[in-house]
Amino acid sequence: MWTDPATLALHGQRVFLRADLNVPLSDGVITDDTRITSSLRTLRALRDQGCQVVLASHLGRPKGVDPTLSLAPVAAHLATLLGCEVPLITDYVDADPFAEGFPASGIVLLENLRFHPGEEKNDPAFAALLARLATAYVNDAFGTAHRPAASIVGIAHLLPSYPGFLLFDEVEQLSRLLNLGVEDRPFVALVGGSKVSDKLPILRNLLIRADQLLIGGAMAFTFIKAEGGAVGKSLVEADALEDAMAFLNESEMRGKLIFLPDDAVCGTSLKEPAVGVHPADQIPDSLAGFDIGPETIEKFSDILSEATTIFWNGPVGVFENPQYAEGTLELARRIADGDATAVAGGGDSLAAIHQAGVADGFTHLSTGGGASLELLAGLELPGIAALKAGG
Ligand code: 3PG
Repeated sequence: MWTDPATLALHGQRVFLRADLNVPLSDGVITDDTRITSSLRTLRALRDQGCQVVLASHLGRPKGVDPTLSLAPVAAHLATLLGCEVPLITDYVDADPFAEGFPASGIVLLENLRFHPGEEKNDPAFAALLARLATAYVNDAFGTAHRPAASIVGIAHLLPSYPGFLLFDEVEQLSRLLNLGVEDRPFVALVGGSKVSDKLPILRNLLIRADQLLIGGAMAFTFIKAEGGAVGKSLVEADALEDAMAFLNESEMRGKLIFLPDDAVCGTSLKEPAVGVHPADQIPDSLAGFDIGPETIEKFSDILSEATTIFWNGPVGVFENPQYAEGTLELARRIADGDATAVAGGGDSLAAIHQAGVADGFTHLSTGGGASLELLAGLELPGIAALKAGG
């Protein structure tokens, strides 16, 4: 049921709470806990109502059980944030984990749902197995709402189902960008990241809504190469060249303006010092582009400064490496300094915005990467459709 979480009354029930706790880890240590802290509001609201909470999430993309992708660090971090024990339940398939009663803390975390093949296949048997653990279902996993998984879709048809605060708020905020009036334009979308093939269908949809599209990150090189540019050793998806060219032609036909980088900061590899700035379509064979160059920063910033509404997804360079961070960080600063309604989505963009220290300059920071892109492309997210339809 699609209801405002502020009206949710689940007093004393056992609630299956699907969150997106897919946080970045380095050697088992959480490097950014935004997705965990963003989930606390719903979690606390349920606990305030005396609910027993069966919290569940995926982490990474394991192929079967993979100890390096255990949610144990997340359980430990949650225990610290909540000030109570958060036991990690590893076996909930072969036995009823609560046969002996529910832990006194009133909250448990299920081990990585993707350790089970039924999760990503939206297997009805796995969904039923999850549903038997609770009497109500709350989905707060906006970042995963575009995945038709058992814990996102299947279970919503088996239990009384509701959105949590994070998911509800994300949908409200992002949906505003779907209904822009003339006074909200120009609407400029800035899209970065590495894989064109992942983002092309979304870019195509975005093209219908945005007035201008700025493309950065490694994926820009596939477009530049498709246009006949020399991109040296830069990352190119050979399989996507034809589609990339078709996309550029289509945008020209629609009269939409797409801007690719003019220059790039280049190096021989990410481990070596940067070598210098080259025109993005004349990169020497021995070099690869890892960030947008100063001319592109200025060009993109000028376009962004004219925008009334901005959506940003994906870094425009390898910002984790200080030598190639300037493009992404400077665009973050310029967007934040401007007056436009600025929405950013995706783990990497958010990390860059936090690194630049300019989160306050954005209107909304979405915890969803792929999910925010799909929603903005006007697609119906399976997780939201399931809540509206079922349970
Ligand atoms: C994300 O990080 O975008 C979500 O957690 C979904 O993860 P996925 O792309 O592995 O499905």
